[in-house]
Amino acid sequence: MLKTISFLALIILHFSCKTPEKKHNQLSAVIDHSLKVATQQSLRMAESLKDQPDKLPQTIDKKGDLVTCNSAWWVSGFFPGVLWYLYENDPTDSLRLWAENFTMRVEDQQYTTDNHDVGFMIFCSFGNGYRLTGNPEYKEVIHNASKSLITRFNPTIGCIRSWDYASWSAQWQYPVIIDNMMNLELLEWSAKAFNDTTFSHVARTHANTTMKNHFRDDYSSYHVVSYDTITGAVEKKNTSQGYSDDSAWARGQAWGLYGYTMMYQETGDKVYLEQATHIADFILNHPNLPEDKIPYWDFNAPDIPNALRDASAGAIMCSALLELSGYVSQEKTDSYLKIAETQLRSLSSDKYLAKPRENANFILKHSVGHMPNKSEVDVPLSYADYYFVEALMRAKELVKQGKM
Ligand code: GLY
Repeated sequence: MLKTISFLALIILHFSCKTPEKKHNQLSAVIDHSLKVATQQSLRMAESLKDQPDKLPQTIDKKGDLVTCNSAWWVSGFFPGVLWYLYENDPTDSLRLWAENFTMRVEDQQYTTDNHDVGFMIFCSFGNGYRLTGNPEYKEVIHNASKSLITRFNPTIGCIRSWDYASWSAQWQYPVIIDNMMNLELLEWSAKAFNDTTFSHVARTHANTTMKNHFRDDYSSYHVVSYDTITGAVEKKNTSQGYSDDSAWARGQAWGLYGYTMMYQETGDKVYLEQATHIADFILNHPNLPEDKIPYWDFNAPDIPNALRDASAGAIMCSALLELSGYVSQEKTDSYLKIAETQLRSLSSDKYLAKPRENANFILKHSVGHMPNKSEVDVPLSYADYYFVEALMRAKELVKQGKM
C-alpha cells in the first residue's frame, strides 16, 4: 500500500514539475517554427522582387499571383518591417541586406503630405531599421516623415486628416479613420528623439479627440468620423470598410486596441490604458469571437458562423494584447496572454500559416482587405504578416522572461 502511494506521489510530482516546462517548450517551438517559415518565405519574396526595385509586396490576385505596389500605397512599409523583425530574430547578412534594400524603396514617402499613412509607411520600415542599426540617415527620414504628418493636423478639429481623395470630398469634409491611431507612434517617437513637443501635442490631441468621437457606449468603434472644417463639430460617423455603419469592423477594433495600447506605452497616461482595456473587453467578451480567437472580418457580419475570418485583425489584436498584458492586473494579464497565445497558435496552424513556396511567399493566408468593395477578400496581406511577425517576437520575449 505504502509502495503504491509513493509511486502515485512520484507520478504526481513528475507531472506537476514537467507540465509547465513542456507547455513552455511547446509554445517556443511554435514560435520558432513560425519565425522559420516567415524567414524562408520572406527571403524568397525579396528575391522574387530583386529586378523590380520600386515594387513592394501587397497581396495576390485571383490566380494566386503576387500583386505589388509602389511606395505610395499605404502598405509599402510593412514588408521592409517584416524583414527587420526577422533580422532581429536571426541577424544574418542576407536578411539585413534585403531589409535595407526594401526600406530604401519607401524613402520618398518621407515627404508625403497627401494622406496619413506616412506613419505606417515610414515607421514600420525606417523606424525598425533605426531601432536595430542606429543608422543616422534613417533617423533623418523619420524626422521628415513626422514633419510631413503634422501638416495634416487641424487644431480646430483636433485631428490629423486621414484621406484627401477628391472623389470622397463630396462624402466627407474631413475624414478621420480609426486606423490613424497607428500613425501616432511615429510622432511620439519623434517627440522624444528630437525633443519637440509639437509632435506629442498633435499625437495626444488626435488620440483624445478620437477617444471622444469614434467610440460607441460599448467601446466598439466607427471606422470613419468626419468633421465640419469650420466648426470642428462631428459631421458624420460611418463604417466604410465594415458591414454597416453601426457594425464593429474587426480590423478597426484591432487598430483601436493597438493604438491606445501604444499611446499608453509611449505616454504613461492612464486614460489611454483604460481605453485600451475597455476595447480589449469588448473584443474578448464578444459572443461572435470564435474559438480560435481569429475574428470574422466584421463582428456583425450577417453570415456568421460562415463569414470569412480576417487574419490581419487577429494578428494586430494578438500583438497588441501581448503588449497590453504587461500593464494590467494579474487577472487581466492572464486573460490577455491566454487569448494572445490562442491567436498565435491559430495563426501558426496549417489553416493560416503558408506552406513553403505557397501563398506567393506571403506568411499568412485568409485576410480581408475591403469587403464592401470586394477587393482583397480572403487573401494574404503584407500587414497581416507584419503584425504576426511582431507578435511572434513579442511572445518570444515573454516566453524568455517566463511570462508565457
Ligand atoms: N488602413 C486601411 C485598412 O486597415 O484597411
